Amino acid sequence: MARIPGEAIEEVRNHFDIVEVISSYIDLKKAGRNYVGFCPFHSEKKPSFTVSPEKQIFYCFGCQSGGNLFSFVMNMEDCSFPEAVRFLAEKSGINIESVSSTPAEKKELQAREILIKMNSLAQKYFEAMLWKTSKGKKVLHYLLKRGLTEQTIIDFHLGYAGESWQGLTGELLKRGLSLDLAVRGGLVKKSTERYYDYFHDRLIFPIWDSHGRVVGFGGRVLEQGEPKYLNSPESPLFSKSKNLYGLHMAIPYIRRDKEALLVEGYMDVILLHQHGVKDAVALLGTSLTEKQISLLRGRLGKLTLAFDADTGGEIAALRGLELLRNEGCQVLVAQFPEGQDPADFVREHGEENFRREILQKARSLVDYRLYVRKKRHDLTKEEGRVSYWKEARSILSDISETMEREEYLKKIAKEINVSLEVLREDLEKIIWSFSLSQKKVFKESTSQTVSLKELVEKELLSCLFKYPRYLTLLREYEISDEGFTEGPYREIARYLFELDRNGKEIETAAFLSYFSDQEMHKLIIRMALPFQIEEESKVVKIIKGCIRKIKALTWAEERQTLTKSLQSTVNRSEVSVKLQRIHDLKKREEEICRSGEGEDFDG
Ligand code: GTP
Ligand code: MN
Repeated sequence: MARIPGEAIEEVRNHFDIVEVISSYIDLKKAGRNYVGFCPFHSEKKPSFTVSPEKQIFYCFGCQSGGNLFSFVMNMEDCSFPEAVRFLAEKSGINIESVSSTPAEKKELQAREILIKMNSLAQKYFEAMLWKTSKGKKVLHYLLKRGLTEQTIIDFHLGYAGESWQGLTGELLKRGLSLDLAVRGGLVKKSTERYYDYFHDRLIFPIWDSHGRVVGFGGRVLEQGEPKYLNSPESPLFSKSKNLYGLHMAIPYIRRDKEALLVEGYMDVILLHQHGVKDAVALLGTSLTEKQISLLRGRLGKLTLAFDADTGGEIAALRGLELLRNEGCQVLVAQFPEGQDPADFVREHGEENFRREILQKARSLVDYRLYVRKKRHDLTKEEGRVSYWKEARSILSDISETMEREEYLKKIAKEINVSLEVLREDLEKIIWSFSLSQKKVFKESTSQTVSLKELVEKELLSCLFKYPRYLTLLREYEISDEGFTEGPYREIARYLFELDRNGKEIETAAFLSYFSDQEMHKLIIRMALPFQIEEESKVVKIIKGCIRKIKALTWAEERQTLTKSLQSTVNRSEVSVKLQRIHDLKKREEEICRSGEGEDFDG
């Protein structure tokens, strides 16, 4: 997607009032200087979703989502940052293309549009082949035999790629469309001389993006053959790791109930929807990615995974699921009778049984992990119990809630017949040694661990957001963006410095537009919010304290690296240079700590 220049983004943002835009989605009530309402991104009993007209930002005290106009639209419309900008630009009548793109970008944008047209043409072609040809009718018969109704086949726009190798190619050519572009879009293939259809003699499942545009296809063999499924190749429109099958149909239900069901196959989604389980979406033949999780996130209270037994274990170990869990989303794992998948089950037993026997009996993610481990060991033997505990211990050490950990501990204590106290003590030992070895002191709500230095950086940045003029203090003490830990904090610092250098004002809502990432928006909002507005004299003190700590921690880090490297340094003069440097660093650390003494305590 072409990059949208900053001016165009600002023009769009300035065109709207965030309160009006958000009011078109949810009810807001005036409360003092702000507006409040029920958060659309998590379920809550008291309204904690706050919109500030002055700052043109929103923030939810319940789920900590927050950002500017664009972040809100990204969440609500389930789209990327540039898509949100375009979406609003369209509404406002601002032509960002004319403000923005270079000729190359315009061309790329046009290409995408044509590809979308080609895909929808292809979908219609495949459908016609299914309903109107004699071989197609056989495929139709197969679908009916598998339990799909005609209506379902229509609703999901299933199709058939005919026996001809040039059917679709011919159709595209007839309309004067570029076959080379069709090759890029994965509809056509090219041999040395000839163009021919990518899909041939397969049952076709169109794949939509979250807006309901056809971006690719899945093609299933009809009889025997390899591969069983052929998916569209990665293209400017399609990526199998960034889409979920059925998402655009499931979204209204997922939003309404804040629940989703994740399955493996196209057929699973289709039959589940047909039987009334309308929040089902499927992976596209890859394992779950963080991008896919982010498609669902922000509005989920519960995600149930319904996979084959063998893939289940693997999936359940995914880090992205931990993120969801930490955001307060329940992650459950459903299990099926041997050899059955969701499609088989719902077809045979119907919706009600599916809900009662499968969904309601789903285990929590931790429970499921423990269960998988337990099955691998013989708990009647001492050896088996010990190895089970070792594995269980590492699973439990990931749980940040003490209460939750305690529940599982109780269960395991019974299973392996060891006293709760012994297990608890052992687990705590692990948790502590782990956090020490990682030198990580703090767990953020996103489950990312953050170093002490990053904590200080965060405090510093959050002061600077409120009092940008003190960026001069950083210069005075020779801290540039490079002094911040690589990652989000450094990026934020870099932009702050840049704006300041160019004499631009630092305004949160505008600042957010530099970043296209939701997590980044959350982070910035949390820093920029005036939770407590400190007195200015105090702020200077805090900033100076942070600067000192950052310096000391940076030196300490360098010192550690040097000390480590001494072991492998043989050259004597090099050793003495390093020792001297270590000594200097130590002294400076001590000095800077001393210079701050007293200041931290008199406020
Ligand atoms: P049926 O076998 O007709 O019930 O279809 P299904 O969708 O249930 O397929 P299956 O359970 O065999 O596989 C689940 C999913 O994995 C499919 O929907 C595909 O997305 C993917 N998949 C299966 N086989 C292949 C393959 O050979 N290649 C690719 N790329 N994906 C596959
Ligand atoms: Mn299947």
